[in-house]
Amino acid sequence: MSDDARPRPIGAIKTLAAFRDRVDALGIALHCDDQIAIGREAPLAQSYTLRDGKTVGNRFCIHPMEGWDGTADGLPTELTHRRWRRFGESGAKLIWGGEAVAVSHDGRASPNQLVIDRRTVHALRALREDLVMAHQTRCGPADDLLVGLQLTHSGRYARPRRADRPEPRLVQRHPLLDARLGPEAAGVNPLDDAELASLAETFVDASLLAADAGFAFVDIKHCHGYLAHDLLGAHTRPGSFGGSLENRTRFLRRIVDGIRRGAPQLGIGVRLSAFDLVPYRRGSDGRGQPEAVQLPYSYGFGVRAQVPTEPDLTEPILFMRMLRELGIELCNLTAGSPYYNPHVQRPALYPPSDGYDPPEDPLIGVARQIGVAMELKRAVPELFVVGSAYSYLQQFLPHVAQRVIRDGGADAVGIGRLALSYPGFPSDVLAGRSLDQRLLCRTFSDCTTGPRNGLVSGCYPLDPFYKERPEAARIMALRPRSRRH
Ligand SMILES: Cc1cc2nc3c(=O)[nH]c(=O)nc-3n(C[C@H](O)[C@H](O)[C@H](O)COP(=O)(O)O)c2cc1C
Repeated sequence: MSDDARPRPIGAIKTLAAFRDRVDALGIALHCDDQIAIGREAPLAQSYTLRDGKTVGNRFCIHPMEGWDGTADGLPTELTHRRWRRFGESGAKLIWGGEAVAVSHDGRASPNQLVIDRRTVHALRALREDLVMAHQTRCGPADDLLVGLQLTHSGRYARPRRADRPEPRLVQRHPLLDARLGPEAAGVNPLDDAELASLAETFVDASLLAADAGFAFVDIKHCHGYLAHDLLGAHTRPGSFGGSLENRTRFLRRIVDGIRRGAPQLGIGVRLSAFDLVPYRRGSDGRGQPEAVQLPYSYGFGVRAQVPTEPDLTEPILFMRMLRELGIELCNLTAGSPYYNPHVQRPALYPPSDGYDPPEDPLIGVARQIGVAMELKRAVPELFVVGSAYSYLQQFLPHVAQRVIRDGGADAVGIGRLALSYPGFPSDVLAGRSLDQRLLCRTFSDCTTGPRNGLVSGCYPLDPFYKERPEAARIMALRPRSRRH
């Protein structure tokens, strides 16, 4: 790594001119506007009418952000309600899924993940209503607020009964990732075609329940290494769900068919890891380094087989064209996985307790995702594209976001970690209020350290509510000594 590319805290960059200098020094494309416009004509305040006639009232989106705080039965708790209410109060007009909700018990990523079934659907309806009411109280009418539900099966990352016991459901053999699951994975056979066909039906059933609960759309989650994303990379899988791109996307087409038959009015979206890189691990200096893999690398989606530390957008473009042919307009682009290359998925200065120090300046990771989203939006302009990985930009976020929207590089800017520390951020930007610097997410990764250690997620450093919870002291103790303040 060149000296220039070594991580430098963005907090030390005080002005837009210095930010631009840093971006230039890194040799990345991250353009920004000087002034943030306000009022009806402001780029971030523009509404967008989708093809089905629904309106999204502005260009801010709240990403799905799980809290690991559901009950053993998959029901939301008061902590879940608080998070969703804050999403509603944010002023963003697109709520992309709230959080990942498992379509079946065996698909839960933790024993505290929400589940959608006949027993829980009433509670998910109440969760949505709580969010909408919070929006109305704080921000006014909700007729241009679009709220979806993210549906997932955690696949190889399923841990439905105990946070420390993987119970993987594999769709392909992956020499590196299987080994990381430990001995549990060794004896597990990948799901066969009949099991996958049945799981597609389970997604359809869950979608119909989501429609009953009043959600405007469902997101059929295809990202972050979970089952449907794993399937997109299942080049070596035999049978009708592996091998060709046609086969690897069959699962999604089946689900879409079923939804169209059962709930034709329900919107459909896809959150997609638009590119991937090989798994990384902690090197001897603490920094992340790519695993050595055999070439061609034939296990990922949107990754160059011969240089698997770089994206390849050939198939993601074909996938997005397929979405267009299926009449799907909503597409939320993310990348990589929090399990095996977190610096790609959520650029951060500080790793969670099970992570590695950033192998590059996190701004490079931000620029990589923003650049890919821009390229894909240009390739398939008919889709409504939401971009990810903006939180690390902190006070420069509005400047970059406005420029991306103005340039047509995405249709909405998604907010993830920042929505936990500073949910009112979109409202403040849209109203032209100065930002509350104390609430800007500093990417300490405590929101991930918590769940990695069996605790609920939340913004422990900046949200007074979590700061005062008993878990906060345990999380502090899990930080390296130098960061215990
Ligand atoms: C604590 C936590 C929970 C998350 N939960 C979800 C989730 O339920 N579904 C999902 O698709 N992504 C989830 N993500 C990923 C975020 O939605 C987002 O893609 C990522 O944090 C990068 O965006 P940001 O830079 O704005 O944080 C989560 C991330 C974190 C840190």
